[in-house]
Amino acid sequence: MLYEYGEIDKYREDSRIHVYHDSAEQVQSLVPESGETRADLVLSGIPFSFFPDQVRDAIVRSTRDVLKEDGMFLAYQTFFQRDVHLKVYMERYFSRVRDTYYLRNLPPMRLYEALP
Ligand SMILES: C[S@@+](CC[C@H](N)C(=O)[O-])C[C@H]1O[C@@H](n2cnc3c(N)ncnc32)[C@H](O)[C@@H]1O
Repeated sequence: MLYEYGEIDKYREDSRIHVYHDSAEQVQSLVPESGETRADLVLSGIPFSFFPDQVRDAIVRSTRDVLKEDGMFLAYQTFFQRDVHLKVYMERYFSRVRDTYYLRNLPPMRLYEALP
């Protein structure tokens, strides 16, 4: 899993957790490094709206490639993100994409569930 800097210490003793300081673009090499061949779930809160098109495309495609066939890419973004920031890329590589708004959350969020 990719964790933010600073959150790492509380997981250091947990043998189930592997921490890498790397970009989500590298997920395809990081999953095998952790001893797994494919992932059940990729959970992401990285800011897709800030990335150039090629980086969004590369991250979503790589994520699809590391997931098991019954896995899921679960991503959350703030609610004002547009489809062009993430959903269109998910629809390119995943067979089913569902998005839900959580307007009562602070800040309001949009959750994307993408299935291979
Ligand atoms: C808005 S913060 C979200 C923090 C946390 N995930 C949460 O939801 O509270 C965005 C985080 O994404 C990380 N990030 C940005 N670009 C990334 C990338 N290409 N790969 C991995 N992490 C990235 C940043 O370092 C930052 O910690």
